[in-house]
Amino acid sequence: MDYNNLILAINESVAVVTINRPDKLNALNIQTMNELKSIITELNNNDDVSVIILTGSGEKAFVAGADISELNKLDMLAAKKFSEHGQEIFNLIENSHKPVIAAVNGFALGGGCELALACHFRIASENAQFGQPEVNLGIIPGYGGTQRLSHLINSGRAIEYILTGSMIDANEAFRIGLVNHVYSQKELMTKALELANKIAAKSRVTIRHAIEAVNASKVLSLKEGLAREASIFTLCCGTEDFKEGTTAFIEKRKPKFKNS
Ligand code: COA
Repeated sequence: MDYNNLILAINESVAVVTINRPDKLNALNIQTMNELKSIITELNNNDDVSVIILTGSGEKAFVAGADISELNKLDMLAAKKFSEHGQEIFNLIENSHKPVIAAVNGFALGGGCELALACHFRIASENAQFGQPEVNLGIIPGYGGTQRLSHLINSGRAIEYILTGSMIDANEAFRIGLVNHVYSQKELMTKALELANKIAAKSRVTIRHAIEAVNASKVLSLKEGLAREASIFTLCCGTEDFKEGTTAFIEKRKPKFKNS
């Protein structure tokens, strides 16, 4: 498929998706959201891809939010569809069986922060600024921010950020666990690719199972989550890659995974 607002580059088995509306600080209009939905589906079905990196075009923004000129036109009926449609796409990212890493290279505000939150983990450049400034527009986050920010960081902090709309700089984002690493802008993509390649060297089946088990912890009780973990662990032990991984260790060699 052709994309107008996304750039796709596949290098070895890592796909880099760049949101490309730099003149609007990569704001997510409906077209970009639909393209994101298509590309995540396409990459999940692409056997050449193991890991996905999401980033923004230019040096200023990852994504500066939902497109406010489109938001401005919403009535209540359209608003419900708008929010549910965005949530569906971000759920697709969170439940992607290929890891999605957010390489946050500048502003990640509103829908941009929510997009980063839906990714499996986040790394950032020193100039990154996160935030949920929706209150300044008379709305609340509608693409999952009220839920995912509260789950990822201390809920007292999350509600403060949502109520004040304050920006969170990269160091603060690191300190509160919103991002895993902070790099210079120059280093960000190199480090993102390093992390992606490290994951891409594992068995794709194992990685898929790991994501499924960790994601279960977000929706299940501890008891149910542990039961799910045991089931998924059991499935892992039925794979060829489990035999290969354990045999390679015993034979003191590198495993050759077949993704099966
Ligand atoms: N939706 C639509 N357009 C946006 C946008 C958004 N979320 N964020 C930025 N833009 C546009 C601006 O309107 C401007 O377009 P123009 O040149 O045609 O006027 C362009 O991107 C550059 O933004 P600008 O505001 O001039 O850059 P800045 O460096 O002065 O400020 C921000 C940067 C991020 C602080 C500021 O753009 C901002 O507050 N954006 C909105 C953030 C927000 O509320 N997001 C949540 C939305 S739910």
